[in-house]
Amino acid sequence: MPQIEVKLKDRAYPVIIGGGQIKHLAAFLKKHAPDSRVFVFYDARFYALHRPTVKRALKLPRARLFELALPPGEKTKSLTHAKKIYDILLGEKITRSDFILACGGGVICDLVGYVAATLLRGIPWATVPTTLLAMVDAAIGGKTGVNHGRGKNLIGAFWQPKFVLCDPRFLNTLPPRQMVCGLGEIVKYAGLTGYKILPQLKKYLEKSDFYNERMLTRMIESNVAYKAGLVAEDERDEGKRRFLNFGHTFAHAIENAAGYGRLLHGEAVILGVATAVEAGILRKPESERYFKEYSALINDMMNLAPRRRLELDKIMTAMAWDKKRNTQRARFVLLSRLGKPFITDDLDKNIVKKALSKMLSKYQTGGGQYA
Ligand code: GLY
Repeated sequence: MPQIEVKLKDRAYPVIIGGGQIKHLAAFLKKHAPDSRVFVFYDARFYALHRPTVKRALKLPRARLFELALPPGEKTKSLTHAKKIYDILLGEKITRSDFILACGGGVICDLVGYVAATLLRGIPWATVPTTLLAMVDAAIGGKTGVNHGRGKNLIGAFWQPKFVLCDPRFLNTLPPRQMVCGLGEIVKYAGLTGYKILPQLKKYLEKSDFYNERMLTRMIESNVAYKAGLVAEDERDEGKRRFLNFGHTFAHAIENAAGYGRLLHGEAVILGVATAVEAGILRKPESERYFKEYSALINDMMNLAPRRRLELDKIMTAMAWDKKRNTQRARFVLLSRLGKPFITDDLDKNIVKKALSKMLSKYQTGGGQYA
């Protein structure tokens, strides 16, 4: 069975990847929850389409199985929903010998993982990520949490799952815009890893078949292998794991400036990565030659994001500037060349402005395929 290990000593776990691999769910549960009750939380959209497949794969008697579907969307990632789940699980007299399973995208993985991390000081859990974004990023590495009125992911915990099972066959029913969101994270990984993921992504996009299982499986494997390595080295996000923020400082400001929900996170990440590459080149113009192929690919990918009115000044305002130093308080991840990320908190405001305006000139002449 194809799997990649997240090597965290006593908390090491496998990420199983492959079309049809859901059939192994019962075997993994048997290992980690031999006699326990299993509390399964689904994204409601996924539940409507795939519950019979998951239920068959669980192979659990009724007395040991509890299932609940949660509303899709970012609003579900809240303390309100966490409390609802606490109430239900405590009502069922859950114990630390029971097991929690999250089947959904980033929202469900983060929320259910957070409940698992905090209830009774930690209940074992696992995830079946069901979106491309969750398979390549959100479900790997044990970051769990909910949003707060003051910002996203402000409440959370590191709580590693016992296993992650990615079955790309579930992606067949994922809407194209959600696929694009996953591709936003994949193009980020392409920049971070250099010539490993870039050719895979290029070939996949040339084929113009978003749902090609073989190609998706390979890309998911490459992304997970890279992320698993970073997490094993820096579980708590104090060093190299921060490379995964490549493009994100810009993406958050772009998302914000577009207006709530007008651009999805992964779509904004494509524009954020494009801006980060431009900023790296403006900082060191001689590095431009390293980015020809990558920049061309990103420019093409910007066409996959819906066209939205984006104003430079609004994006600049959405970034938290340190007025005294005229630099960004948040750290930027840039590339000195493909596959060579570095972190800086010293990026000149003029470079940021120029990089954004270069990105916008390309986005506004393209953009709009899945509006
Ligand atoms: N999504 C970034 C991380 O897991 O660190």
